[in-house]
Amino acid sequence: ITQKSTNITKVEHGITTDARARRNGHKGGVIWLTGLSGAGKSTLAVELEKRLFEKGMNVFVLDGDNVRHGLNANLGFSPEDRAENIRRVGEVSALFAQAGAIAITSFISPYRSDRDRAREAAGEAFHEVHVAADLKTCEERDPKGLYKKARAGEIKEFTGISAPYEAPDNPQLTVDTSAGSIDDCVQQLVDYVEANFRV
Ligand code: PPS
Repeated sequence: ITQKSTNITKVEHGITTDARARRNGHKGGVIWLTGLSGAGKSTLAVELEKRLFEKGMNVFVLDGDNVRHGLNANLGFSPEDRAENIRRVGEVSALFAQAGAIAITSFISPYRSDRDRAREAAGEAFHEVHVAADLKTCEERDPKGLYKKARAGEIKEFTGISAPYEAPDNPQLTVDTSAGSIDDCVQQLVDYVEANFRV
């Protein structure tokens, strides 16, 4: 993005954030999952969404693979394209939060600076979760065969192999899918949401 919009004035909402939270029984917010390909982000996101939905919460998953088919169909995996991918998702997830929903985002989001911008978009509603599985584990899992292709040089700029992953310094929560079961990790996330989103 090179050009900023000018001559625009924000419209004030007629419904307060508190009013939305009271009606839903929980605050809106963003649960930002970050981690390597194969770390388990999508699996956790979908399971967490189910669990929260069953509790009557207003929740929606935004997933890298899906968003890249639509909103971000024009973006690849260069640092610039990843930055724009995360910028757009950061803005969209902040809108979900403002609308009172809990957005669970599932993107590698390998650059700290990109995640920091997403945090700025959502403010205190932003909750960073490191889905920590070490590279060796992710590569052994290789659910889509992408690590194999990356090692063979068939995919360029693959995170962890030929492109960097900058782990969060100070995430709100870390779940390690190489140490605990998916069920354990989802339970940790559900507990976190219960403790931090209820009103
Ligand atoms: S990013 O870095 O946040 O913009 O990436 P994201 O939007 O989450 O997309 C990651 C999924 O795209 C597939 N894929 C790649 N990942 C990393 N590097 C390269 N070069 C690449 N090419 C394709 C891959 O399936 C990722 O999905 P997950 O679910 O993370 O395995």
